[in-house]
Amino acid sequence: MSKKPLSILGSTGSIGVSTLDVVRQFPDRFEVAALAAGRNIDLLCEQIRVFEPSVVAVLDQGLAAGLKQRLHSQNHQPEVLFGREGYERVAAYPKSRMLVSAMVGAAGLLPTLAAIEAGKDLALANKETLVIAGEIVMRLAKSKGIRVLPVDSEHSAIFQALQGNHREALKRILLTASGGPFFDRTRDELAMVTPEAALRHPNWTMGRKITIDSATLMNKGLEVIEAHWLFDVPVEQIAIHIHPESIVHSMVEYVDGSVIAQMGIPDMRIPIAYALAYPERLPVQSPPLDLFRLQNLNFYPPDEEKFPCLRLAKEACRRGSTLPAVLNAANEVAVEAFLDRRITFPGIPRVIETVMKDHQVAASPTLETILQADRWARQEAERLTRVATDS
Ligand SMILES: NC(=O)c1ccc[n+]([C@@H]2O[C@H](COP(=O)([O-])OP(=O)(O)OC[C@H]3O[C@@H](n4cnc5c(N)ncnc54)[C@H](OP(=O)(O)O)[C@@H]3O)[C@@H](O)[C@H]2O)c1
Repeated sequence: MSKKPLSILGSTGSIGVSTLDVVRQFPDRFEVAALAAGRNIDLLCEQIRVFEPSVVAVLDQGLAAGLKQRLHSQNHQPEVLFGREGYERVAAYPKSRMLVSAMVGAAGLLPTLAAIEAGKDLALANKETLVIAGEIVMRLAKSKGIRVLPVDSEHSAIFQALQGNHREALKRILLTASGGPFFDRTRDELAMVTPEAALRHPNWTMGRKITIDSATLMNKGLEVIEAHWLFDVPVEQIAIHIHPESIVHSMVEYVDGSVIAQMGIPDMRIPIAYALAYPERLPVQSPPLDLFRLQNLNFYPPDEEKFPCLRLAKEACRRGSTLPAVLNAANEVAVEAFLDRRITFPGIPRVIETVMKDHQVAASPTLETILQADRWARQEAERLTRVATDS
């Protein structure tokens, strides 16, 4: 069997590093054609040395010049690109068969669209792509006949539970959530949460933005929108279940009352390997799930009063159009502001709600109107986080 050449956006991030670990475990199955990172030149240099991609891209010209200089002393010399054009060329690189889309935030949207346009299959971790422009992305993917394979563990679980069943028989998606580090805290306690505490996730080691999103439950809200587009299911048929052990990664309920769950230890290499090799399963080196040691699996309903991000994301999903892009952009800015200690933890949903209320939803959005809404929402959220929203 020939090796599958991959492009990886966000290779220096948590998902990127786990993806490269899967490639390292299966050198006869995958090869790295192209890599893109943001600013972490040290790690990218090391990845270039080990995986020998033909082309790489970084955030800006200065970083590209620095990288080229660093590569002088290495044997392998890839083409070095930068910026939006560089990312799009990595994503749509002719030799690649699949794009692993794992940048964080809205930055992933345009290169992911470029890959779909070029007919590449997609292993999608960057949920923001579907949140911002789900309709456009899924329509283009359909017209190009490419596969959109979920990397997010919950969506991989749903995708796996849907295999071999008739879609008409689907009743509900039961989307599990760890609940993050604060799901049992009181409102008063939430007001005192620090960035350090919010960055300590109980089960998963992830990038900073998604870790904060997990603590506010915005991550689950974004995942509701992601599931809505991936599986063509209305938000009313997606029920969130807080499951602190993160063993059941999600479930599908069918009309006959059967509920099919996918379980496993919290290790992103499992859903990544499934997306890369689909429909095959690979013998991933990962500790086995030991149910005897676990003993209890708990499930709780989410509290949307305490975690308003969930309510806001569902509202954005229901109303659609440019509102999910606005929700996402305001969230990205608010999370940064919280990490910089400019706003409190409950200030995050307050900023998002204010920006959403002030937004005039476009009637039938194009990619350009969506990008405009994203820019507008960032400006509004920046303004709100500069003045004291929390006072
Ligand atoms: N981590 C998980 O377990 C997990 C699970 C499910 C879904 N996801 C999703 O996967 C995506 C990545 O998450 P992550 O946890 O891997 O994030 P991460 O560790 O923060 O990594 C983000 C990656 O994106 C790059 N990047 C950041 N800003 C960029 C920009 N403006 N332009 C270009 N590249 C940029 C970073 O580059 P540098 O570091 O080089 O600057 C890094 O390679 C997110 O959408 C997240 O929601 C993650």
